[in-house]
Amino acid sequence: MPRASRKKASGTKATIDTLLKENRRYKPPSSFVKTATANKSAVYTTAAKNPTAFWAKMAGELVWKKKWSKVLEWKAPDAKWFVGGKLNVTESCLDRHLTNGNKNKAALIWEGEPGDRKTFTYWDLYRQVNKLANAFKSLGVTKGDRVAIYLPMIPELVIAMLACARIGAIHSVVFGGFSPESLRDRINDSQCKLLITADGGYRRGQIIPLKHDADVALADCPSVEHVIIVKRGDFLLRVKEGRDHWFHRLMQEADQYCPPVYVDSEHPLFILYTSGTTGKPKGIIHTCGGYLTGTYATSKLVFDLKEDDVFWCTADCGWVTGHSYIVYGPMANGVTQVMYEGAPDWPDQDRFWQLVEKMNVTVFYTAPTAIRAFMRWGREWPDKHDLSSLRLLGTVGEPINPEAWVWYHDAIGGKKCPIVDTWWQTETGHIMITPLPGVTSTKPGSATRPFPGIEAKILDDEGKEIKKGGGYLAITKPWPGMLRGIWGDRQRFIDTYWSKWPGIYFPGDGARIDEDKYFWILGRVDDVINTAGHRISTMEVESALVEHQSVAEAAVVGIPHELKGEALAAFVTLKDGVERSDKLCHQLIDFVTRKIGAIARPDQMVCTPDLPKTRSGKIMRRLLRDIATGRVLGDTTTLADPAVIDRLKRQYEED
Ligand code: PRX
Repeated sequence: MPRASRKKASGTKATIDTLLKENRRYKPPSSFVKTATANKSAVYTTAAKNPTAFWAKMAGELVWKKKWSKVLEWKAPDAKWFVGGKLNVTESCLDRHLTNGNKNKAALIWEGEPGDRKTFTYWDLYRQVNKLANAFKSLGVTKGDRVAIYLPMIPELVIAMLACARIGAIHSVVFGGFSPESLRDRINDSQCKLLITADGGYRRGQIIPLKHDADVALADCPSVEHVIIVKRGDFLLRVKEGRDHWFHRLMQEADQYCPPVYVDSEHPLFILYTSGTTGKPKGIIHTCGGYLTGTYATSKLVFDLKEDDVFWCTADCGWVTGHSYIVYGPMANGVTQVMYEGAPDWPDQDRFWQLVEKMNVTVFYTAPTAIRAFMRWGREWPDKHDLSSLRLLGTVGEPINPEAWVWYHDAIGGKKCPIVDTWWQTETGHIMITPLPGVTSTKPGSATRPFPGIEAKILDDEGKEIKKGGGYLAITKPWPGMLRGIWGDRQRFIDTYWSKWPGIYFPGDGARIDEDKYFWILGRVDDVINTAGHRISTMEVESALVEHQSVAEAAVVGIPHELKGEALAAFVTLKDGVERSDKLCHQLIDFVTRKIGAIARPDQMVCTPDLPKTRSGKIMRRLLRDIATGRVLGDTTTLADPAVIDRLKRQYEED
């Protein structure tokens, strides 16, 4: 990945120099502007004058049982949105579509990796969600209970999320690629009462044995009383009598209608775990009214969703992108969506383009890491297909390098589709910095401007605004989808996001602002690695490594990677008496993969007699990063033992 869109790992001041000058500009095509929902720049100025009025107008387009009495109550770091309002989010996502002309419209067109297909109308989905909600109730789940969802990308995943929302239960979706241990920790952290999983799922022709993995996790999850198993294939599994129930049997018995449980606007909708710099993953809490308003409004204006659009967000529902832009935002807009279970290169590298052509996809949202893979596979794959149905493209998850942006624009968008590069996080709930496709001229590599109603700035360490140049990204006003806390850890919530500057949210990203007030996100400034669009905490991987019997100490850093953006390089010191060998290095890589999941698999494993440390014993990761990337070493004066570096460099070259 070129330096243009890469962060400079240490500090943020230096980041300005790393950017290439990008002079290309892309105006919204006039044909697009003509029909765009937002097509006048006044949308920015009006919202900036009165952000709460902007959000209240958006919230007013949703279904409320009882209207709020106050839009916002803000006492940093605690926000309450639509105070006094009562709702059930499924009424906006499902019930209202039964009477507004969408009843028999396709809500989800799903394709499994082997090629099987299912279509659900809004009416179908409504019934499925109601039935599953009743099944949950029959197993004792009630308002406020936590339900863990560990499923492949099948429609039942969406149905399960909405079924929780129907009865006011809080879902915690765990990405199906996570290991049993990761699942166990997440279930235990929020004390889930029920787990819904599948016998298996398909990925690149292989079967992922979810129920088997879930059983390993459940051996150590005392809070889980019941397990529901979706039958995806004919995969072997064990059923534990009394605890395990087949999804299809429960659905046969369940009643067709489940009255929505109305909850306070601030009632939690879900918990989603994400990596932070230290310790275990953080259970990010999102609530109903504000989150739904934010995802609804951004889906409507950023993706410009229209009656006849076919929207495809390629993310997995195990990540926030799937929560916000498969389940809640698009469904509240009543749009038709494509959902796909498997890998983009299965059986061939044109699977996505086949789907776009076959399903007539109009709006397509994916990640830069995928775009870089498409680029590498070559234009012949998209060129084999008629992609002319596409009218708008989006990206999310990491900075997109300008070449990838331009390739996406030309090869996929046929030079006619605007691109929305959307910056946001698990914690922000919805898109925060993004072009509006009918208003904002784009510059490849820039997420452009804050969404209407959002206020973002670039600040220095002291909180002073940088009007032009690089610094820390900061969100300076509350927004409806903001996280309301970390499950069970109030102090960590304050320390992580709210203690850098008083009353201002710190997302942990570096960014630059240019002469046109455009934002250029430079990446994380903390010890979080963004690999293939997924946040992985270096700490977590290190903790996994030191659990191995041969490892005394470990340090993990991110290194540039052509496709993944960043890859993981692990440096370990072995326990006395343990000899380094290639076999051991492979074992350690497999060990991490087993402990956390394939997304955390280190690309490099270096065994070293010692790690560079400060005199107070802190591992100097930035020096490891310099070694791993072949850069000139930064300041080494604080090293306790300078000789370590030469030994380490030699070892690195050998490994
Ligand atoms: O570093 C930013 C990067 O991804 C982080 C958020 O990761 P996560 O919570 O997993 O959510 C990903 C999907 C919303 C951010 O702190 N990031 C996300 N989108 C962009 C981005 N970096 C640059 N440009 C983006 N468009």
